[in-house]
Amino acid sequence: MSGDRDAAAATQPLESDRELVGIVAVADNGVIGRDGDMPWHVPADLQHFKEATMGHPVVMGRVTYEGILETLGEPLPGRTTVVLTSRNLETPAGAVVAHDLESALERAERAANERHDDADRIFVAGGATVYEQFLPALDRLIVTEIHDDPEGDVAFPEWDRSEWGVVSRDDRDGFSFLEYVRRD
Ligand SMILES: NC(=O)c1ccc[n+]([C@@H]2O[C@H](COP(=O)([O-])OP(=O)(O)OC[C@H]3O[C@@H](n4cnc5c(N)ncnc54)[C@H](OP(=O)(O)O)[C@@H]3O)[C@@H](O)[C@H]2O)c1
Repeated sequence: MSGDRDAAAATQPLESDRELVGIVAVADNGVIGRDGDMPWHVPADLQHFKEATMGHPVVMGRVTYEGILETLGEPLPGRTTVVLTSRNLETPAGAVVAHDLESALERAERAANERHDDADRIFVAGGATVYEQFLPALDRLIVTEIHDDPEGDVAFPEWDRSEWGVVSRDDRDGFSFLEYVRRD
């Protein structure tokens, strides 16, 4: 993250009338990515992500977006992807570009209104740089804990769990679905 981005995040509190929801799969050692992809293949987690985010705007960083394009050949179907980037990217239908956090939220709000039947949530889907910048503004965190310690090159940022309460937990074989809500 550049110094300018740090400064922008510090001086402009991000606000939305909609619930801002972070969604992440994170290993026990904090790893979330390796070589532009996730270091595990957990189909139930991909399904969980799909069910949570379907019909909503999803904000993500350019690296994560490009990884999805490489895998799916298109942006996430049934959702509007808001891609944070400093570049002038050409995007196919279903994706829009934003050059800073505030414009990303504006674009997500517009997509919620115009394309997703006034959807009440905006998802923040990583990667690490984007989680880090949005974390102070998130209302809810949907976390899949992957019970493994894989090698990786990207980790979820430090977060203060005392600021969050667990509202649901579903333990599966090798992973757990948790949901946290920010305490008042
Ligand atoms: N486990 C999970 O749930 C999960 C979820 C998402 C991603 N991941 C993994 O995380 C890794 C990618 O994460 P990452 O942190 O390296 O990259 P990233 O956050 O996906 O993308 C970083 C890029 O986003 C753009 N960006 C970020 N903040 C910006 C801002 N405020 N204004 C303008 N542009 C901004 C910049 O793009 P430009 O360089 O174009 O300016 C930056 O280089 C991959 O391995 C991916 O698979 C894992």
